[in-house]
Amino acid sequence: MVSLFGSKSLLGLDIGSGSIKAVQLKDLKDGHELELLGIMPLHPSIIAEDSIADTVKLGEALKELIKKFNIKTKNTVISISGHSSVIIKRITLPEMTEEVLNENIRFEAEQYVPFGIEDVNLDYQIIGPAEEAGQIDVVLVAVKKDLLNSYVNVVKDAGLVPVIVDVDAFALENMYEINYHSSEEKNVALVNVGATNTTINILRNGVSAFTRDSSIGSKIHTETLMRELEVNIEAAEKLKRGQEADGISAVKAEAVINSASEEIVMEITRSLDYFSDTPDIGSIDELMLGGGGAMVKGFKELITERTGLTVTLMNPFSKIKISKQLDAKYVESVAPLAAVAVGLALRRVGDR
Ligand SMILES: Nc1ncnc2c1ncn2[C@@H]1O[C@H](COP(=O)(O)OP(=O)(O)OP(=O)(O)O)[C@@H](O)[C@H]1O
Ligand SMILES: [Mg+2]
Repeated sequence: MVSLFGSKSLLGLDIGSGSIKAVQLKDLKDGHELELLGIMPLHPSIIAEDSIADTVKLGEALKELIKKFNIKTKNTVISISGHSSVIIKRITLPEMTEEVLNENIRFEAEQYVPFGIEDVNLDYQIIGPAEEAGQIDVVLVAVKKDLLNSYVNVVKDAGLVPVIVDVDAFALENMYEINYHSSEEKNVALVNVGATNTTINILRNGVSAFTRDSSIGSKIHTETLMRELEVNIEAAEKLKRGQEADGISAVKAEAVINSASEEIVMEITRSLDYFSDTPDIGSIDELMLGGGGAMVKGFKELITERTGLTVTLMNPFSKIKISKQLDAKYVESVAPLAAVAVGLALRRVGDR
């Protein structure tokens, strides 16, 4: 394929409310190599309620990240997430060519998008023939324009060129595809617990069958610890990692952490149950956990107990070679945090 950018690798930039993650992968003959992994924590006031609350501070953080990790690649893939501004729907339509669908998609989308159709950017992908003859399954993605533009503008202002805008749920799927996909028939729930959002994408034999973003995340661990144990945010961050802080032992913090975990797990199981209750789909066989929340002390154990599923932490680098320039131990220690960013960095211009 001839493309303006060739198949050059892009910078995967996951701008989360808790931290920015940047990943760059080099294409090898038989896979990929991680060339760059940069993480920059963000103050909780910079991105709030799914939108950018402080453009200036976010721009500064991006520039700092670019400088600190010596990022030279300009062409960037970003993602947008959050239940209030992103709609992902799997819909069934009468069979039609891509061309005809292209003309009709706005009209079809109107009934699924709870905002004015003129206020959203639309994208879609034909999944394939539906179970019913003469029908096709299509995934529809609608993102609020103002939200999308605000992210695009911040990224541009920092000197980068956004060439692809993705959504977290699909980035996770991409990450899964290259690291874990097998021909085995199963339903796998990808669950990414961020600071303020939890993204779920349930894959049925490797293809997305259900997605949901919930506005709950590991920020509630931090807030619960700060409130119940009267500690500051720095101490709470340590306690979440199973370390002691401000003279509070890890054991004492555990009960408080678990009470917050229960809330997140309840939200996740609600979505999983909804999926399992859909006729002809069946149950979930496996759960993979990513995002910073996945690493909170005791979280994986708790969700394993509550769901009865086999739970694995996502390692987005499990099939990716780590460059010798990087500290492999460090990369391993933050791996689940980079799940979305790796999925973004895997994109190439011209992909569909
Ligand atoms: N090693 C760790 N142990 C425990 N918690 C961690 C660890 N690393 C990060 N976290 C927590 O994970 C959260 C950040 O995770 P992540 O970077 O996935 O979120 P985000 O992408 O910035 O947020 P969102 O996608 O919700 O906007 C923070 O609440 C942070 O305290
Ligand atoms: Mg995130």
